[in-house]
Amino acid sequence: MPESQSQSQHFDVVVYGATSFVGQILTRYMWNEYGNSGKVSWAIAGRSKQKLRDLQIKLGGDALELPVMVADAADKAALKEMCEQTKVVISTVGPYALYGEPLVEVCCELGTDYVDLTGEPQWIRAMLDKYEDSARQSGARIVNCCGFDSIPSDLGVYHLQQYALQSEGEPCQHVRMRVKAIRGGASGGTVASLMNVAKQAAEDKNLRRLLANPYALCPADHGFATYQENLKKAKFEDITGRWIAPFVMAAINTRIVHRTNALLEKEYGERFQYDEAMFTGKDMQGAARGWMMSLGLGAFMLGAALPPTRWLLENYIMPKPGEGPSESQQEKGFYDLRFYGTTQKGKLLKAKVTGDRDPGYGSTAKMLAESALCLAQDIAKDQVKGGFWTPASVFGETLITRLQDKAGLTFDILHD
Ligand SMILES: NC(=O)c1ccc[n+]([C@@H]2O[C@H](COP(=O)([O-])OP(=O)(O)OC[C@H]3O[C@@H](n4cnc5c(N)ncnc54)[C@H](OP(=O)(O)O)[C@@H]3O)[C@@H](O)[C@H]2O)c1
Repeated sequence: MPESQSQSQHFDVVVYGATSFVGQILTRYMWNEYGNSGKVSWAIAGRSKQKLRDLQIKLGGDALELPVMVADAADKAALKEMCEQTKVVISTVGPYALYGEPLVEVCCELGTDYVDLTGEPQWIRAMLDKYEDSARQSGARIVNCCGFDSIPSDLGVYHLQQYALQSEGEPCQHVRMRVKAIRGGASGGTVASLMNVAKQAAEDKNLRRLLANPYALCPADHGFATYQENLKKAKFEDITGRWIAPFVMAAINTRIVHRTNALLEKEYGERFQYDEAMFTGKDMQGAARGWMMSLGLGAFMLGAALPPTRWLLENYIMPKPGEGPSESQQEKGFYDLRFYGTTQKGKLLKAKVTGDRDPGYGSTAKMLAESALCLAQDIAKDQVKGGFWTPASVFGETLITRLQDKAGLTFDILHD
């Protein structure tokens, strides 16, 4: 059963999975930024009382006074007791397809808002199908993908489209997101999530079809039918004048951006196209890098899909659950994303999104924390109703402001 040192307190936020690799970074951020100041009332939660206590000790100062709750991901009664005490639950307990459903079910039943870091489209689709009606009825705002996938992509497109609508009177019909520069690593939790999707997809034809559908997360009546390019190998791109290669996060980000368009009543247009890729250079070296990256990603995907190589990857090559980039790797990490939008009249508009710290951990932890606080403190229940939202459709410019003020991100329109 959950234990709270302050049962009567109503929290803004509970960090569930505070002892995960990314949860610890997030908790450190919350502690450094908000501490016990009273600006934010918050608690930490997880399955192990001892690990939570160790985390409090690591945080130092009077962090032992932070309220603590203990709940296993499968224990609905304990999850219910936790959710009843807070406006928003942050969950980093993943792979979500393995552990995430009971918490979503409980939040949807009680009307508790929820944010997470899943990048698992098949799980989001299943949760939508099962719990969207109940979220609408209870008023729970469920917001998946509040980390590197998919906040910079989703809010970057949103920011560019708002500019296009204001300056050109029409949205960009095609937006290309290109990763100009990035430095970061992967954690065991992320690897476990990727491996789980690969394993499920290898066994299930319908899932493979779902994963290949760019509109997989859109409402059933979306009506979008525009051809979406799904880049599988390197190529030279005239519009940007560079070689490009596939970007591993495109599989989730593109689905989220299309769902945003659907939820914003097709503000980006009926025929909106969106794709993502990595820049690899302008010359023959760029071409060689692009081909190496395409082949490397293809080999990794194949390795993850086949049981013997998946076993090798999981046990000997990739980080294990709880492991991830070192503190100095997190500090040195960064990303620089470029957005190229073309309107129907042929105008080219550009935007840039950057982040400090490594994308998947240092930056993700700050984005997730600020998303939760945005829901708890900035977006009233009568302003945005219950349901399954995307970051851009629920937060819009409000979160962009928070991320620029607090979380080391920048969003700029480029006029060169
Ligand atoms: N979208 C993004 O940009 C992004 C970036 C990073 C991570 N992620 C995702 O975030 C998730 C966490 O990643 P990570 O590397 O931090 O993972 P991790 O270190 O492996 O942590 C997993 C967490 O789940 C908890 N857990 C496992 N089984 C549980 C149960 N039955 N009841 C309660 N808690 C349970 C673990 O508890 P203990 O601590 O007690 O072991 C741990 O806190 C993964 O799904 C990953 O894919 C996404």
